[in-house]
Amino acid sequence: LNHLGPQTTPIGGIERQLTSAAAGSNVKVTVLGAAGGIGQPLALLLKGSPLISELSLYDIVGTEGVGADLSHIDSSPKVSSFTGAEKLPEALYSSNLVVIPAGVPRKPGMTRDDLFNINAGIVRDLCVAIAKYCPEAWVAIISNPVNSTVPIAAEVFKKAGTYNPRKLLGVTKLDVLRANTFVAEAIGVPPERMSVPVIGGHAGVTILPLLSQATPRVDVSPEKAKALTERIQDAGTEVVKAKAGKGSATLSMAYAAAKFAESCLRAIGGEPVVECAYVESHLTELPFFASCVCLGRNGVEEYLPLGRFNELEAANFEALKGELRGSIKKGVEFVNKA
Ligand code: NAD
Ligand code: LMR
Repeated sequence: LNHLGPQTTPIGGIERQLTSAAAGSNVKVTVLGAAGGIGQPLALLLKGSPLISELSLYDIVGTEGVGADLSHIDSSPKVSSFTGAEKLPEALYSSNLVVIPAGVPRKPGMTRDDLFNINAGIVRDLCVAIAKYCPEAWVAIISNPVNSTVPIAAEVFKKAGTYNPRKLLGVTKLDVLRANTFVAEAIGVPPERMSVPVIGGHAGVTILPLLSQATPRVDVSPEKAKALTERIQDAGTEVVKAKAGKGSATLSMAYAAAKFAESCLRAIGGEPVVECAYVESHLTELPFFASCVCLGRNGVEEYLPLGRFNELEAANFEALKGELRGSIKKGVEFVNKA
């Protein structure tokens, strides 16, 4: 993660750039689903972070092995491992940030919404525990379908009386990484220099990259812009197909989640950071919407304006509303059903 600059997450032992924000910090990060395809590489990247004092790993199976392995890396975060529901309270207790990649991934032919039946209950139950054992924590949700699992978490926290919409974040960072990569390749700049805002949600047409607002400027034909947009929208499926039944994106997701977690930790430390995330929002008529937000000590401190859309983006914005509204409603109803 070297190109992230001086406050970046170094990989343990290779680089030691303890920043002032890190020195003497007392920050606990918990990963729920830590033994999974995303959880393991995410835990590895987080183990290298000088911004973390305790890295708490939780899964329903196999957490101790992952934890023992990581604990031999000569970096500061202290690793603790917890397996099974009875250990969940201890895993969560006094966490500052909880990252959730728990749940099943897609197989070829499935939509993210096809995961709802299994993952909705997993996210709900984990959030019930978060509300009890670390109600002040920031919560970053990776488990799909993100468009529904974030509203599920919000409803659980509302019922528990702990809801803080500024600290509940759906992780859409992988869409931004993909947009940066594909667009940079198309216009011939290094991907590290590319910055493409991606708004909306995290599934198919609800993923809306704003090429017209990218830096550096993207000067491509409308046909090329449409093709790039569609590739970004279908990128998760591209990986699902390539893995041919062995799951979905794990390594790129872990990288995205580690970068996102680092932004949250820097914000918790008092440094304002801009990220795209799927949050409760008043920027559109949809109650949850991914957009660029400014994170600070208290969570989302500013919702950055969506800016002007070009013709393609305006049409795509209209096209995403129905599906996103339906996914939000499905999540809300899941928690509130009798
Ligand atoms: P995986 O099956 O490899 O790992 C999931 C882990 O969750 C497993 O270790 C499993 O034991 C654990 N788990 C299951 N139920 C649990 C529970 N109740 N409590 C704690 N842990 C539990 O799957 P993966 O590839 O790591 O993907 C995880 C999720 O992330 C999937 O839903 C996938 O669709 C999603 N995902 C989201 C994005 C995104 O951009 N937001 C990107 C990639 C994947
Ligand atoms: C992704 O975008 O890679 C994830 O949401 C996983 C998936 O199912 O595509």
